[in-house]
Amino acid sequence: MLKLTGEEFKKITKIVYDLTGIYLPEEKNTLLSNRLRKRLRELKLSTFADYHTLLLDKKALEEELPHFLSAVTTNETYFFRNKKLWSFIRETWIPEIVARKKSKHLRIWSAASSSGEEAYTMAICLKEHTPSLANWNVRVVASDISNRVLDQARRGIYNDYSLSSTPKAMQTKWFNKTDEGYEVKDSLRKIVNFQFHNLRDSFAKGTYDFVFLRNVLMYFDTPMKIAVMKTVTEALNQGGHLYVGDVDPIRQTPELHEAMTLERCGLNLYTKPAVASVGVGG
Ligand SMILES: C[S@@+](CC[C@H](N)C(=O)[O-])C[C@H]1O[C@@H](n2cnc3c(N)ncnc32)[C@H](O)[C@@H]1O
Repeated sequence: MLKLTGEEFKKITKIVYDLTGIYLPEEKNTLLSNRLRKRLRELKLSTFADYHTLLLDKKALEEELPHFLSAVTTNETYFFRNKKLWSFIRETWIPEIVARKKSKHLRIWSAASSSGEEAYTMAICLKEHTPSLANWNVRVVASDISNRVLDQARRGIYNDYSLSSTPKAMQTKWFNKTDEGYEVKDSLRKIVNFQFHNLRDSFAKGTYDFVFLRNVLMYFDTPMKIAVMKTVTEALNQGGHLYVGDVDPIRQTPELHEAMTLERCGLNLYTKPAVASVGVGG
């Protein structure tokens, strides 16, 4: 079966890195070969060298990009992923911010959102607090580098797997059952927006009360992790919180840990101090 040679793997993963910051080590050769083989068949190309040549052509790359990014990203996600986090959001974070914030504006960012489950889960938690958030202006922004998953998110139709950790009562309350699956209700759609964003680039600065950055840092090398943390730190407002996933290796990456200007205030939780030096390492 066709497999990337060492040289082809290096050339293609350099393009992946330059575009996304995702670092693919040699052990990922079989995985990448399998994923790209499918694209070769669809494009009727016979070798990976042909595919590499295509990626070097600016116009061809533009067209191929959504497929290429789909092949190189891992988009696993589901509603209410990590029960501990969502209990914290519902029982601690929302009541505290409602009590603390005077402006009645709430801005949440689901960074590297994949197909939207995390962003809509947050929307459900916020809606469930409607009595206390009734007059608030609440927005959840979700972003990803893959337009394919963003299209799925905007469609808002999910399967049984996506909802496997969602209590039945919430399924009934927040989704319409259709022939295609479970469709999020308009009341959730109204407060969630999806947009393309590469985590390497800056995002709205000083804006967010809460940022999710889960299950994505581990795909990056140290310089990219530091760049991403700078983006996220700048995007938070003072007193805002960052939640990283269980396998996001901040403390296992000494250079990143040293560059952090956020304060750790829980197992996976960080906050931007009220008077902070803005940004990581700068
Ligand atoms: C495993 S999913 C995480 C989804 C969700 N945050 C969760 O934890 O359930 C990782 C996502 O990161 C996205 N991603 C990878 N590199 C990125 C980058 N440089 N900028 C933005 N998103 C990126 C991928 O497209 C993928 O959808």
